[in-house]
Amino acid sequence: MNKKFYITTPIYYPSGTFHIGHCYTTVIADAIARYKRENGYDVFFLTGTDEHGIKIQKKAEEKGITPKEYVDAIVADTKELWTALGITYDRFIRTTDDDHVLTVQNIFKKLYDQGDIYKGEYKGKYCTPCESFWTESQLVDGKCPDCGREVYEITEEAYFLKLSKYQKQLEEYLETHPDFIEPISRKNEMINNFIKPGLEDLCVSRTSFNWGVPVSFDEKHVVYVWIDALSNYISALGYLNGNDDLFKKFWPADLHIVGKEIVRFHTIIWPIMLMALNLPLPKKVFGHGWLVIDGGKISKSSNNYKDPREYINEYGVDAVRYFLLREVPFGSDGNFTEEALIARTNGDLANVLGNLVNRTIGMCKKYFDGVVPKQNELNDLDNELIKYALSVPSIVGENVDKLDIPAALEAIIELYRKCNKYIDETLPWVLAKEESKERLETVIYNLLACIKHGAVALKPFLPTTFESIFEQLNISDEDISKFDTLKPGTVLNEAKPLFARIQKDV
Ligand code: MSP
Repeated sequence: MNKKFYITTPIYYPSGTFHIGHCYTTVIADAIARYKRENGYDVFFLTGTDEHGIKIQKKAEEKGITPKEYVDAIVADTKELWTALGITYDRFIRTTDDDHVLTVQNIFKKLYDQGDIYKGEYKGKYCTPCESFWTESQLVDGKCPDCGREVYEITEEAYFLKLSKYQKQLEEYLETHPDFIEPISRKNEMINNFIKPGLEDLCVSRTSFNWGVPVSFDEKHVVYVWIDALSNYISALGYLNGNDDLFKKFWPADLHIVGKEIVRFHTIIWPIMLMALNLPLPKKVFGHGWLVIDGGKISKSSNNYKDPREYINEYGVDAVRYFLLREVPFGSDGNFTEEALIARTNGDLANVLGNLVNRTIGMCKKYFDGVVPKQNELNDLDNELIKYALSVPSIVGENVDKLDIPAALEAIIELYRKCNKYIDETLPWVLAKEESKERLETVIYNLLACIKHGAVALKPFLPTTFESIFEQLNISDEDISKFDTLKPGTVLNEAKPLFARIQKDV
């Protein structure tokens, strides 16, 4: 039986055009999903949209359309963006999907019937833009701790989830499963700031708006956002909504990748919901940092973003993917600027990789009419390069397992840097003049084989670049366990620049 891997992104609020910050999580999840598929895993990669709530209802009202019409248009646009970025999700779940709605209603009813959800009265502070309830102690200067805006006192009849009942069980779980929350700093923050001070029961229904999943046994209530949203991870697999084959196969999730501000919901509310449903918990929740501009999170409200497709159209999809995967130390915040995107593209992709491929294919054309030469006797310099090339797949694997994608990519680019150095050391044009044909054959062969080897390692991260390299090398063999699968005698195709140097002042 195949090994399985279930990976998710958060489901996004379709409340406007998506920005590059949203692409960050999705591209990382996509690269990991592709990597696992390449390595023989049966992968289920889930992403989607979180479509309910008062914010969406209000936006639709402003436009004079129904909430569903409003979200449909954004969802269509989002899917186009994901296609442009090469995102290979297995399902795009929408919280308005019928099967999801059924799951949410069934979960709510089950928890109510077993006494984990009860009816009470909600009094508290509510932040409308964030759709979040806060206790007095969580407010910062009397304002929303997430966005800093005004909060409002609200009193209404509501259903509550008994978080308090599961506090002890959750604490024990976190103690006995040290890898459940990563990075470790976020785990400590959850325990010390949220769990240890004591969990209050959570308001899980609203009566003040109706754009949501109706509580099946009390229709004036709609299910409030987090039970609705978090359930997507199991509704998408058919839990309590019909055919649960996928659920049986893929649950528990191997990895939920989420932004740092929603780690709290994924490591407190979600585990408690699952404990109450008597289901196993996901293996890992990874809380990544934000892409920031000038220290502030990129956001729709601050108008500091462009549609990511502008960058894709201008610099190419793999330049954008590479930047997102390489630039930010995973787990920390990272700065996004167009200058930084250009610098990364020019530095690693144009100067190191593009230049190497171009030069090597050019030399193969010039000295061998574009026919891959044979590899003759190897010297120490060759062996050193080949040894590193052969170690790249395992370095990449170890780092993907640690979710350190920047380090995985660095190991591949390092191979290409070493190749450029190898050219400087072996001086193929001198070998050609000296008529050291056998040596020249070996050098060009080693360079082409390294390019191929690195391209296979790059495939999950930069799929378009992989394809272009394979097309230029006129090969299809992807065996990365061996170095010499590139067949002498293969006739190379025309060289095509992979990444042109970007000359632009921004
Ligand atoms: N709908 C909820 C998630 C529910 S999951 C059961 C939500 N949606 S969101 O659209 O606001 O954010 C989705 C994800 O995008 C979050 O993980 C958030 O951290 C991430 N990002 C939004 N802006 C970001 C950056 N500027 N940088 C990196 N990630 C960012 O929260």
